This record gives sequence, structure tokens and C-alpha cells, in this order.
Amino acid sequence: MTLLFFLLLLASTLSPSLARGSFQSLVPSEEFKNCSNASCARHLLEDHEPQVQASFDLAQGYMTNDDLERAIKEFAQRCSNISRIYSIGKSVNGVPLWVIEISDKPGQEESEAAFKYIGNVHGDEPVGRELLIFLANWLCDNHLKDPLATLIVENVHLHLLPSMNPDGFSLRKRGNANNIDLNRDFPDQFTSINDNEDLRQPETRAIMNWLRDIRFTASATLHGGALVANYPWDGSDDKSTKYNGCPDDDAFQFMASIYSHSHYNMSSSKEFLGGITNGAAWYPLYGGMQDWNYIHAGCFELTLEISDNKWPNAAELPIIWRYNKMSMLNLVASLVKTGVHGRIYSSGEGRPLPGFITVSGINYTVKAGKPFGDYHRFLAPRDRYQVVASMPGFKSKNISIWLDDGPVTLDFVLDPEISVKGSVLQNVYDCNCNSKNKLEFAQFLWGTHLEVYFVFIVILGFLCFLFQRRVKGKFSTRSVGAKRSVVV
Ligand SMILES: *[C@@H]1O[C@H](CO)[C@@H](O)[C@H](O)[C@H]1NC(C)=O
Ligand SMILES: *[C@@H]1O[C@H](CO)[C@@H](O)[C@H](O)[C@H]1NC(C)=O
Ligand SMILES: *[C@@H]1O[C@H](CO)[C@@H](O)[C@H](O)[C@H]1NC(C)=O
Ligand SMILES: *[C@@H]1O[C@H](CO)[C@@H](O)[C@H](O)[C@H]1NC(C)=O
Ligand SMILES: *[C@@H]1O[C@H](CO)[C@@H](O)[C@H](O)[C@H]1NC(C)=O
Ligand SMILES: *[C@@H]1O[C@H](CO)[C@@H](O)[C@H](O)[C@H]1NC(C)=O
Ligand SMILES: [Zn+2]
Repeated sequence: MTLLFFLLLLASTLSPSLARGSFQSLVPSEEFKNCSNASCARHLLEDHEPQVQASFDLAQGYMTNDDLERAIKEFAQRCSNISRIYSIGKSVNGVPLWVIEISDKPGQEESEAAFKYIGNVHGDEPVGRELLIFLANWLCDNHLKDPLATLIVENVHLHLLPSMNPDGFSLRKRGNANNIDLNRDFPDQFTSINDNEDLRQPETRAIMNWLRDIRFTASATLHGGALVANYPWDGSDDKSTKYNGCPDDDAFQFMASIYSHSHYNMSSSKEFLGGITNGAAWYPLYGGMQDWNYIHAGCFELTLEISDNKWPNAAELPIIWRYNKMSMLNLVASLVKTGVHGRIYSSGEGRPLPGFITVSGINYTVKAGKPFGDYHRFLAPRDRYQVVASMPGFKSKNISIWLDDGPVTLDFVLDPEISVKGSVLQNVYDCNCNSKNKLEFAQFLWGTHLEVYFVFIVILGFLCFLFQRRVKGKFSTRSVGAKRSVVV
């Protein structure tokens, strides 16, 4: 009977149109060549406003918090059909933490990966907040003109938080208004320093709640004071300075290299081989944001040090943007151009399943989304990976893939779990009831109604057979952007 549940597997294919992007090329940008200062650069992006000039000196040529809010709102108006703005909370002093989302369908859930950039984590490192405004405007201006801009707008949901620490910025100091270093304020795997939630800063809490709302695949924070792409772990169990790679060390090295190699000169660093470093190998820290992202939010985060000088003369901002532009774009685009992507379905009605993806040999689980069952698994190119899809109540399925430079699309169709004794284990997702009810249901079935139960199984099997025929037909006629072949 149980043989009626066949495996239906949609296997991997490369998407040639996406595989061709080069991460090495640095395309010089012409747009700022007549600019010798930040106000000039910014006025390419905004209309002239006398107010901006007046508040300019306070921040030494950088946008004040008011300027930033105005720039974000003007952007949202200017670029309304591919963006939306929202606030994830407020700083200690009540400054809203504005986020720009850029996508062809902003605010809508799609089966696409999401990426976030966070600037100005440290108040006295303001370059990132300016670069993120440059980035937003560049994407707006080049959507449907530049292939990379179009690729990002159409295939990624990009969220930009230019300033996580507006209070620290206006006080021109590292910590927030309570003098807490926000990149030491997250729960940590190696110490219990931040386990008391009541002591957590509002800015930190805002980030943590944000990550509960949105399933980010990857992200980066922008810092200053060095020139290097830093990846987890940030700490070590014995608190020593040593290389301490996380389970996805290869993927992180690959990801950090995408940034450093696309940068004007990050990869030619004398201090850091290839312009990348493991966090704990450089200097261990505890309570950092990148480790927390990877452990608790399923998000691969880098900490990017983008200029040796923390607060360079504002006149240098356009050139720093130019140095970082391709890196910032290529890092976002890497979510589409590399890795394994797909959806998980039930074999029954072809319903999307919020299942789990693991890769043999890597102790890390990526979750699929609820509405579409889509997953996005960042991986370094390698000969062979064994990808396993699982979901409680369903049989796991695994398949080996070969990951070239391009992405692999891999859908899974999972069969409900049926034990040999013929007991039907309803899967968690099918059942809206809680687990206690499910247990009672099972006991009820086992206890008193065994004969009825066997009849029920026969009927269920037949139904599954019918469903499956329908689903097969549906899948094989489906035309998807990337080629997918069906293997039964
Ligand atoms: C830049 O300046 C040159 C001459 O100084 C001028 O010919 C050119 O049009 C300017 N470009 C822009 C984009 O303003
Ligand atoms: C910046 O440069 C523009 C033209 O290049 C000039 O008009 C403006 O006064 C300068 N602003 C500052 C603050 O130096
Ligand atoms: C945005 O609006 C412009 C002009 O109305 C249109 O040409 C463009 O296709 C729109 N883009 C998207 C992604 O909807
Ligand atoms: C990169 O270029 C900047 C500006 O020219 C320079 O200050 C910095 O030292 C360079 N860094 C490396 C690693 O070459
Ligand atoms: C896998 O990682 C978890 C923490 O996420 C840890 O508790 C567990 O021991 C690890 N398993 C192996 C086999 O390393
Ligand atoms: C993958 O599938 C093979 C059989 O095809 C099985 O032997 C192996 O244990 C599976 N591996 C995992 C990690 O599930
Ligand atoms: Zn910093």
C-alpha cells in the first residue's frame, strides 16, 4: 500500500543567465567625477535644499540624523515603485530606525532571498550610512538600465538600515546614548554576558525583532577603522585569539572574498591575506551581531570594515562609494548567482512545506519559508554536496549536487511518513491541532477502531494515488524561468 507514495523529485539545473556574472570586475563609475565634496555628491541624489547646507557643518559634511531621515523619505517618493520605507523601532533618544526595502515587489512575500545591509552600528563610524544612501539611489537610477541593478531589484528583497545607532552618531561616539557598544549587546554562544533581556538596548532589540519578522539569507554590517571583510566566529570558547571557523567556514570565506575581490583594493591588503579574516583570529569579541545572525536567524552575516579612517573627510565619500560599489552589489547578487535554491512540497497536493535543508558534513540547518516553502542555501562552489530536505511527518530526501560557479535550483517533493505497521503519522503542518490532540487522535485510532482504520488507510492510499497523478501532471507542464528536469 505504502508503495503508492512515489518519490517525485525535481532535480537541479544551472541557470545559465545568472551564472555568468563576474565577481572580479571593478567597473569604474563616472557619476561623481566632477564632485569634490560630499554635498556635491549628495546633491546628485537630492534636490538642492538650503537647510541641508546649514546643518552640514555639525556633522562635518556628513548627513545629520535629520538629513538622513529626509534623504530616506525623498528616496521613497522618488523611487516609489521599487521601494518602501519602514521603521524597525527607535533609538534610546527616540530617533526612528528607518529601513529602505528595494524590490520590484517591496513589502510582499515572494519566494526570493532577502539581504540586509546595516550601517553606523558604531556611532563614530558613519561612512556606511552614507554609502547605503548612495547604493539605494544607484539601484533606483539603474533599474532596467544596468543588468546587475535589474537582477537585484527583480530577484532579491534588499533591506537597508543606514543607521543602527543615530544617537551615537550625533554624539560622535562608538556606543549608543547609554554608552553601550551595540556590537557587544547580542546574546553570545560562549558567554552569558547578555542573557538578561531586560538589559538589552532598544536598538539591539529592534534588530532582533526585525529578524524574527523577515527571513534574511545573508547580510553585512558596515564599519570603519580597517579594510577587511570579517566572518564568524567572532569569539572562541577559551577566549583566546585564534582561528575559530563556524560550520560554514568555506561558505563564509567565499562570501567574504566576493566582497574583498570586488573592492578597489581590499584584497591587496598586507595585513589580511586576500582582504578577509576570521573574527576570532583577528580579535575575539563577545555579544557581536554576526555570530547571533548565523546562529539564531539563519542569516549569513559579514562584518565589513570599509575604510581605514573611521570618519574621513566627507569629500572622500564619493570615492569610497566608488571603491565599494561593486562589492556591495556583488555581495547582494551572490544570493542569486551562487548557492542552492528551491522549494519543498508535499507529494500529496504539492503544498509548500516550511521544511529544513541541511548539507552533509555541515552542522547547520536552513529553514524554508512558510508561504512558499522556498529555501536559499549559501554555499561555496564545490564538486559535490549532498543536500537533505526534511520536514516532521515526512520522509527526508537527499540528493547530490555539483555546485559550479553558478546557482543550482533544487526542488524537493516529500512523501508523508507511513510506518510499516500502518499507523498514519499526521504531519505537523497538515494538522492545525496541537500535539496533545494529535496524540489523543493516534491513541483513539490504535485503541478501539483498528478495522475502521485499515479501511481508512486503503481509501487514503487511493486518494494519494489520485493526487499524485494530478501533481505529476501539474509539475511536468509547469514552465519555470530556470530549467528544471523531473526525475521520478
Ligand atoms: C564635468 O565637468 C566637465 C568639465 O569640467 C563637463 O564638461 C562635464 O559635462 C561635467 N559632467 C557632469 C556630469 O556634470
Ligand atoms: C562642494 O563643491 C561644490 C562644487 O564642486 C561647491 O559648490 C560647494 O560649495 C562645495 N561645498 C562645500 C561644503 O565645500
Ligand atoms: C516603475 O515605474 C516606471 C514608470 O512609471 C516604469 O517604467 C517601471 O517599469 C516601473 N518599474 C517597476 C518595477 O514596476
Ligand atoms: C587602498 O587605497 C586607499 C586609497 O588610495 C589607500 O589609502 C589604502 O592604503 C589602500 N589600501 C590597500 C590595502 O591597498
Ligand atoms: C551541531 O551544532 C549544535 C549547535 O548548533 C551542537 O549542539 C551540536 O553538538 C553539533 N553537532 C555536531 C555533531 O557537531
Ligand atoms: C541519503 O540517501 C542515501 C540513499 O539514497 C542514504 O543511504 C543516506 O543515508 C542518505 N543520507 C542522509 C544524510 O540522509
Ligand atoms: Zn565598528
